Amino acid sequence: MSMPVVAIDGPAGVGKTTVAGKLADALGIPRLDTGAMFRAIALNLGENGLNMNPRELRQALSHFDFRVEGCGGATRLLCNGIDPGAALRQERIGVLASTYATRPEVREFTLRMQQRAGSMGPIVAEGRDMGTVVFPTAAFKFFLDASPEVRAKRRWLELTARGGTTPLAEIMDKIIERDAQDRNRPIAPLKPADDAIIIDTSLLDPAQVLNALLDKIRTSPAGKVFPGHCHA
Ligand code: C5P
Repeated sequence: MSMPVVAIDGPAGVGKTTVAGKLADALGIPRLDTGAMFRAIALNLGENGLNMNPRELRQALSHFDFRVEGCGGATRLLCNGIDPGAALRQERIGVLASTYATRPEVREFTLRMQQRAGSMGPIVAEGRDMGTVVFPTAAFKFFLDASPEVRAKRRWLELTARGGTTPLAEIMDKIIERDAQDRNRPIAPLKPADDAIIIDTSLLDPAQVLNALLDKIRTSPAGKVFPGHCHA
């Protein structure tokens, strides 16, 4: 039996968050931004937290609780009842999150939180290991990809629009560093599931990516379970 989950995996800056939000709107279901869990942990525990031994780290993680609230692109991921907001989006936090994401204690904990969120009902889940590890029986699995140059440019435009001043070259370096760390870690590395549909988004705009995903979902019997709109 497959789960009513749409899994979207892919590297940093490929546009997963934008597409997952639009797809969740179109299907009328919540979105689970799993990267935000790693980012919230990194933001709260900071650089020093990386010095904790496994027992200390497990203890620190036991104080975190993540809940999904809302529907579609407006879904919020609450960390201990609070939306951590824009502070999570800094590229520095992305790199720190990627280092926390290599720790087995962190993966064990986030896996539990993510599977709990997925057990509540249909969901669009985005991350690095949704189709491979967290939701191996997801009804739909997509893997979005694009060249590092394209991804760095997208991230730069997004951060600049929000008033950021980080140079493009620095964002590119961080994206390449994060890719290497995410692809080469021993536990739950970034890779497409064997049964994932791979979409190269380098030459596509977000609307075209969304249409490609919706087309697959709407033409499949498994896609009939999604309501198609969020309740007011
Ligand atoms: O997707 P986002 O850039 O917010 O993710 C931040 C970091 O969290 C990633 O670079 C990755 O190391 C980690 N992550 C992960 N598994 C996921 C989602 C994110 O390891 N499912």
